Amino acid sequence: MTSVIYPTSNLKTQPNLMIEKGDGSYVYDNKGKKYLEAMSGLWCTSLGYNNRELIDAASEQLSKLSYSHMFGGKTHQVGIDLAEKLSEMVPIHNAKVFFGNSGSDANDTNIKLLRYYYNAIGQPQKYKIIARERSYHGVTVASASLTGLSVNHSNFDLPFDALGVLRTDAPHYYHGALDGESEIDFVDRITGNLERLILKEGPETIAAFIAEPVTGASGVIVPPKGYYEKVQAILNKYSILFWADEVITAFGRLGKDFGSNAVGIKSPDIMSLAKQLSSGYIPISASVISGDIYQQIVESSESVGVFGHGYTYSGHPVGCAVALKTLEIYQRDNLFEHAATMGSYMQSQLKTLEEHPLVGEVRGKGMIAAVELVASKAPTISFKGNDVGAFAMHACQELGMITRAVAGSSLAFCPPLTIGKAEIDEMLFILKLALDRTFLFALNKNYLL
Ligand SMILES: Cc1ncc(COP(=O)(O)O)c(C=O)c1O
Repeated sequence: MTSVIYPTSNLKTQPNLMIEKGDGSYVYDNKGKKYLEAMSGLWCTSLGYNNRELIDAASEQLSKLSYSHMFGGKTHQVGIDLAEKLSEMVPIHNAKVFFGNSGSDANDTNIKLLRYYYNAIGQPQKYKIIARERSYHGVTVASASLTGLSVNHSNFDLPFDALGVLRTDAPHYYHGALDGESEIDFVDRITGNLERLILKEGPETIAAFIAEPVTGASGVIVPPKGYYEKVQAILNKYSILFWADEVITAFGRLGKDFGSNAVGIKSPDIMSLAKQLSSGYIPISASVISGDIYQQIVESSESVGVFGHGYTYSGHPVGCAVALKTLEIYQRDNLFEHAATMGSYMQSQLKTLEEHPLVGEVRGKGMIAAVELVASKAPTISFKGNDVGAFAMHACQELGMITRAVAGSSLAFCPPLTIGKAEIDEMLFILKLALDRTFLFALNKNYLL
C-alpha cells in the first residue's frame, strides 16, 4: 500500500503496472518489459516519448525563466507567442486565449467566460449549457457536471441544477437507433429531441451546447453524417453558442488540424484545448473564445475593476515553450497529413476485426478508434459489468500493448500521431491474439449469449 489516492481507479485494487521510461511509441515497465503505447498515455502523447526537441525546449525555458505569471500587468513573450500561434490556427474568428493546466479547468474557465459574457450583454438568465449523454468533459466540480457518465457523478453530489446542465442524446447510432431506423432518421429524431429540449427550457435561458467532435472516454462515438449540420442549424436558430471540447480531437487526432474541421462543425464560438497542445509533456490547456465575445468581457470587466479569474500556472512559461515547439513540429513535419494517412490504414485494419465473434462494432476517425466487444452481435447485447473489457485490456498488456477499456467493453486506440505502418501492424497482431484469449474467457464464464 502506498500513500497515493489513485485517480479514476478501483480503489480496492492495487496497481499492476509500473511504467519507468518511454521512447517513441513504446514504454517500458520497471522489469524492462516493452509495450506499444496504443493510447498515447491518456490520449495525449502525440509525438511519442523521449522527443529530444520537446525536452530541449523545456530545459532551455527552465534555464531562462522557470516561472513567471500573467496576473495584474505582468506578461512574458513565450505566453504571447503561444496565444498568437493558437489564434492563427483555430477556426474561430479573431480568437483570444486563456491558459490553464488541464482539460477540466479549461472547461471550467469556459463556463465562467460564458457567464461573464452573458452578464456583460445584459442576459444573465442565459446560463444553461446543453451537454450530451455519454460525454466526457473532465472531473472538476463544474466539468464533471457537464460530463455525461454516471461513474463521474456517483457520490459526488454535483451541482447540476445550479450550473444549469441540460442533457441531450449521445449521437451513437449503433446503440441509440430504434429497430429498423436509418442513420438519417436517427439524426432527425435526436436533433428533434434537442430542439424540443431548447423550446421546453426556453432558448433565452441557454448559453451554449458543448460537444466533443468525436468522443474519447465514453467509447469513441463518431456521429453519423449530417449530425453537426443539423445541430448547428438548430443552435443558430435559437442563438445558442457552439462550444467544441477539442481536448482530445485538436491537433491532428482526427486527421485534420482540428476535430471541428474533420466532422463538419462550422466556426465554433468557444473551444477547449489541452493534451496534444504540449504532446502531454507538460500540463497546459487553453480556453479559446471569439474576439466578439472577448470584447464584451473586456467592456464589462472595466466596471468590475479586474477580471477575477486566473490560475497560478496560467501561461506557465515552460508549458508555453513546450506547446510552441509541439505546434512547430506538427506543422514542419506535416503530422496532420501523416495522421490522416496512417489513420485510414489503422481504421481499415481494425474494421476487419468486425469478423471476430466478440466484436460488435469498430468505430473511429483518423487516429482514434474503439473496438466494442459484445455478448451478442444480433441482436446487439452488451456485456454486463466491466469484466470482459478489463480482461481484454489486461490480455493486451500481457502481450505487450497498452490500450484502455472505456464505456465498459470497448477497447480504445489512440496511438501517437508519429506512428508508422509496421507499428500499426504490430498493434493489430497483438489485438487479435488478445481478442481470442478474451473470447475463451467470455465463453468459460458463460457471458456469451
Ligand atoms: C474531451 C475532454 N474534455 C476534457 C477532459 C479533461 O481533461 P483533463 O483530464 O486534462 O482534466 C478530457 C480528458 O480526457 C477530455 O477527453
